[in-house]
Amino acid sequence: MLIIRTLLSLPAILSTQLIAHALARPDGVIAEDKGAAKVEYATSLTGGEGCSASDLDDIRSGFAEMTSLFAAAVPFDSTSQPSVEFFGPPHHISNYTDMISENLQRAAKYAAVQGGEGEVNADIHVRCDDPMSLCDCGNKRAGRHASYNIGNEQHLNFCKDYFRMDDLERIVDRKANNQMEKDRLMEYYNRGTLWARMVMHFSEIGKAVVQRAVPGGPMSTTEWTTSISQGAMNTSVLAGVMNERPDGPDDVPALKYAYGATRSKLLAVLSTQMPYDAANNAENYALYAQARYIMAKKRFYPNVPIMDFPNEATVLTNENLQDGERMKYAFFDMSDVVARPLGMELEGRPIPSSASFNSVTPFTRLVLTGKLNRAMNATLSGRFHRHLDDQEAIWK
Ligand SMILES: *[C@@H]1O[C@H](CO)[C@@H](O)[C@H](O)[C@H]1NC(C)=O
Ligand SMILES: *[C@@H]1O[C@H](CO)[C@@H](O)[C@H](O)[C@H]1NC(C)=O
Ligand SMILES: *[C@@H]1O[C@H](CO)[C@@H](O)[C@H](O)[C@H]1NC(C)=O
Repeated sequence: MLIIRTLLSLPAILSTQLIAHALARPDGVIAEDKGAAKVEYATSLTGGEGCSASDLDDIRSGFAEMTSLFAAAVPFDSTSQPSVEFFGPPHHISNYTDMISENLQRAAKYAAVQGGEGEVNADIHVRCDDPMSLCDCGNKRAGRHASYNIGNEQHLNFCKDYFRMDDLERIVDRKANNQMEKDRLMEYYNRGTLWARMVMHFSEIGKAVVQRAVPGGPMSTTEWTTSISQGAMNTSVLAGVMNERPDGPDDVPALKYAYGATRSKLLAVLSTQMPYDAANNAENYALYAQARYIMAKKRFYPNVPIMDFPNEATVLTNENLQDGERMKYAFFDMSDVVARPLGMELEGRPIPSSASFNSVTPFTRLVLTGKLNRAMNATLSGRFHRHLDDQEAIWK
């Protein structure tokens, strides 16, 4: 107890700077051997309604892991195998290559640390109070939302399934060493991957192709023409495949949402999809980034599920094939983006300082394990030394 009290009395600014300097490499990527270690990002997480201190810790860690995934995903390489599988062959997506690349670049900017250079993405309002009551929708078979986005804004709710998800480092090490599972991309799905999908729904990050049929003008020879523009990114659907849950009040069957590796890859290969359907789907970016990360880290590409089937009819009529994987990190019969009700605040308040105690944890760990290096020690203020010495004395 004494140790904790001593640390709390440290000036908050000083301790967070120490953490950032100790653990951030110049590229903003967190030192990998420190597990839950954190840096002070330029983008803040705000709000935190209904989240416990440990929830906030998991949310922050997932955010940090996401920055590692996107760091591995840029620059976009449209000829790489994960790109071909998740977005389509280069000639097929040539009109959308820039859009995909820019989406990834914008998401990669979340790695910016406080006091660093360059543009900073807006703060993100995170919460755990399920204001839209969607966390309990779904079931074991159809899955449940682990997180959902509100209004394509920087506003996310995290559901209980999120807090059961693995952390990036641990799952990548564990799965890559398991001969049965190492090639299956979905096995690696972790809270950083989910975060990656969620930020793609922010209209300031993920841009997608909006194609609408509009009535032809007086000079037009056809009754309808199509208008093409850009809009926020949502979740694409498998065209022509109905789900079981009627989404609307009129019992209209909704379409199948493309979550998970199987459906994401189907978006990129089925001739029934538009060439931009994969590039319009947040999950495809998350899985692409996850694949690139594993390739960078482990030097192989987990290519299962392999999209090799005799003909498309086999896929379109095969429920099991479409359902794909047993792990589900969304409610597959519903979008993970919902409109913000009138009157609901977008902006969250700064997370109270009691919660920011979490950001001291890695530092505590450094002190307690005696790993505080001399170089860092030399930058400390005299006042801080006294605290440090107290703690070392207590530890000894
Ligand atoms: C790219 O866009 C142009 C102009 O809209 C269109 O004519 C062409 O068919 C598109 N190419 C592909 C591969 O979608
Ligand atoms: C995504 O949903 C929002 C809100 O309904 C909409 O404005 C936007 O156009 C959609 N994006 C696409 C690509 O359809
Ligand atoms: C840090 O500096 C203080 C004062 O100069 C010194 O007594 C202490 O041993 C140093 N600790 C480490 C871990 O280097």
